[in-house]
Amino acid sequence: MWFYLIRLFYTGIELRDRRQPVYSIKNGETGKTMKENILILPEPQKDLDFPLMKALEKRRSTRKWEHTPVSDQDVSNLLWAACGVTKSKYGNVKCKRTAPSACNSQEIRVYVLMEKGVFLYNEENHELIETGVKDIREYIGTQKMMKSAPMGLVFVADLSRMTSPVLRNKKAQRFSAWVDTGYISQNVYLYCAASGLGTVVLSLVDREKLHRLMQLKEHEKIVLTQVVGRIP
Ligand SMILES: Cc1cc2nc3c(=O)[nH]c(=O)nc-3n(C[C@H](O)[C@H](O)[C@H](O)COP(=O)(O)O)c2cc1C
Repeated sequence: MWFYLIRLFYTGIELRDRRQPVYSIKNGETGKTMKENILILPEPQKDLDFPLMKALEKRRSTRKWEHTPVSDQDVSNLLWAACGVTKSKYGNVKCKRTAPSACNSQEIRVYVLMEKGVFLYNEENHELIETGVKDIREYIGTQKMMKSAPMGLVFVADLSRMTSPVLRNKKAQRFSAWVDTGYISQNVYLYCAASGLGTVVLSLVDREKLHRLMQLKEHEKIVLTQVVGRIP
């Protein structure tokens, strides 16, 4: 009797878990704002076929790109590759993402700087939330050549998400935030290598200025940035 009850309990959980969609389904044209401040992304193409070993071989930092915007499909694919959801959250159990994070804190938030403004990637709904309307791409890095990049990513550590006791002190938080950013950045590198995009991660950034322009809070710290554009 207990055996059957326990089995039913676990089977029930499994069935419900599988039924939960990874992304919310959205209707309408992609790339246009649906609600006031949400940018609809096309579904990420998770069945794209490119050999992992080739992507690793081709991964490179590039500092030249076409000036045309990165396509909506590439933005969608790239963000999902960066830190998209691979397992939905269940009750109090957090979702899982393509990139690992210390204690599954998921403290790194990816902001996207485009001509049309500043957007926060909300991985749980695979959507972009507009947080600013100004084009601030020229502040993505301090090197002159970076100013013309079609798209910038800003990796921001939200320290309020680091709630685990082992991440209580500032040193552990800083260390983990940098490491966790590295995984996301490498995912971006690999997607770019597989899809003809050029990218380079940047530490030469005026973080104070960018922090101010993005109107980030005190507990939000810019770790690194990364530029992306199609290779000419
Ligand atoms: C943490 C980190 C910070 C970096 N910062 C910059 C930077 O500010 N500007 C830049 O042009 N490249 C930057 N790079 C890219 C490195 O210069 C590049 O990875 C290195 O030259 C090796 O080249 P590869 O990535 O093509 O293998 C950075 C790389 C890392 C890992």
